[in-house]
Amino acid sequence: MLLLHRAVAPGLQQAYRLKSTPARLCIRACCTNDSFQPQRSSFTFSGGNSSTRRWRVMGTLLGLGAVLACHDQQCRASQESPRRYTREEVKSHCSPETGVWVTLGSEVFDITEFVDIHPGGASKLMLAAGGPLEPFWALYAVHNQPHVREILAQYKIGELSPDDKAPSILKTSDPYMDDPIRHSALKVNTQCPFNAEPPPELLTENYITPNPIFFTRNHLPVPNVDPDTYRLNVVGPPRGESLCLSLDDLYQFPKHEITVTLQCAGNRRSEMTQFKEVRGLEWSLGAISTARWAGARLCDVLAQAGHQLCETEAHVCFEGLDSDPTGTAYGASIPLARAMDPEAEVLLAYEMNGQPLPRDHGFPVRVVVPGVVGARHVKWLGKVSVEPEESFSHWQRRDYKGFSPSVDWDTVDFDSAPSIQELPIQSAITQPKEGEIIGSGEVTVKGYAWSGGGRAVVRVDVSLDGGLTWQVAELEGEEQRARKAWAWRLWHLQAPLPAGIKELNIVCKAVDESYNVQPDTVAPIWNLRGVLNNAWHRVHVHVAP
Ligand code: MTE
Repeated sequence: MLLLHRAVAPGLQQAYRLKSTPARLCIRACCTNDSFQPQRSSFTFSGGNSSTRRWRVMGTLLGLGAVLACHDQQCRASQESPRRYTREEVKSHCSPETGVWVTLGSEVFDITEFVDIHPGGASKLMLAAGGPLEPFWALYAVHNQPHVREILAQYKIGELSPDDKAPSILKTSDPYMDDPIRHSALKVNTQCPFNAEPPPELLTENYITPNPIFFTRNHLPVPNVDPDTYRLNVVGPPRGESLCLSLDDLYQFPKHEITVTLQCAGNRRSEMTQFKEVRGLEWSLGAISTARWAGARLCDVLAQAGHQLCETEAHVCFEGLDSDPTGTAYGASIPLARAMDPEAEVLLAYEMNGQPLPRDHGFPVRVVVPGVVGARHVKWLGKVSVEPEESFSHWQRRDYKGFSPSVDWDTVDFDSAPSIQELPIQSAITQPKEGEIIGSGEVTVKGYAWSGGGRAVVRVDVSLDGGLTWQVAELEGEEQRARKAWAWRLWHLQAPLPAGIKELNIVCKAVDESYNVQPDTVAPIWNLRGVLNNAWHRVHVHVAP
């Protein structure tokens, strides 16, 4: 598995060419017998002259010493009759203890020895442990190159058994039978309905989250919408006419493009659960992602339907094409004032990162409401109407609301609390991970920060000692536009470590342009649904001696 970091790929290429030198470095990761159990490598260098030593030093300097490897005739890849393995056997080799196996096509590889020298980092490589490489190579196309395949070939131990069919056929009565195939890097919270988040180490790898690993929050099966017959029903004002828009009709409106971060209200719920039990999916810190969205402005479509910003309080209600067995569709609403404001940039989006929306993210059309909780970004949009009241949907009125820590399921009154719209300031650490053992000397901390309502992130503070002292992290990317900062800011901090320090209690907290800050603990913001957790994010790590 070779989730190569783009930055090191050219170095790797150069390093790989070195194998043609006569005094070549040879790392023997193979053994003479058939390797049913993962083998320990014996690291030997063929040719002990000074030229070899130079290559060895250079390889080490590049951090790629082991990747310079080439195998001799004993390599497992050259076995005449390959050993056969079942997918179950491969799956059971998913840790350093059991050995780390992966597949590519029908080939099986024991990459245990490669994990620690993977240029993209061991943790990323481990995401594929026990399964196929293809989904990761599709995401990071830099892998799909001859020299990477050559390196991988050296770790081949056999082939998948031809009788071992690809997994699982669902029963035809299953309403989720038609759900799309998902990326295997996603950490699945529930399979049906599908709810999953990218792992932290991939989440902030890119400013724009690649579509296949964008977090997914579905309440119902994914509808399979035919783009040719798709129609969006936009209900007109009283005595006005409704619009029935095909995709082509929507394309006629001026195309508007914006980068927007979506966050589920339940992001980081698992930390709330640790304080006291809540009801809801156990999201870690990945129920948040960023994409470049394109589509028609909602205000243009509403204006065409004859709607105006009226004096009375009104709401724009959205209905999805996903529905439960009783025919009840997912729905939500936003205030008309936001919908009609061109500066609020609410979209009826049909593109995500330059592609038609993926099915999980609302194909063919979804609402994107910059700065607002994910629940209002209705996917598979079927109907838009302007109403005197908020949507009567369960998800508008009986969910996605915040309460005092004193409220429990016996006392909760959902009508007493406003529905969540703009989210509070948020930040989290994506590197290092909880419990990780980091090297001494220096630490690099990475993460994201975002605030609702378009409020720009002005600062991220990081502490290495549980909040006693603070350092200001470096914000990445461009300055944000005040009041129109729809997307997150990635950040990092590189800090020296005092000699002899054994552990770090890393904490982050962000500040937005209104000087909103995050609370230091979960206790004062705990609520029975586990929403709106924006307490300081804390990660405890050990420092290697
Ligand atoms: N729209 C429909 N039709 N059905 C849904 O289940 N989930 C909502 C929202 N829109 C949902 C929906 C919730 S709670 C969130 S957080 C976002 O979609 C998630 O969007 P994503 O799956 O594209 O990340």
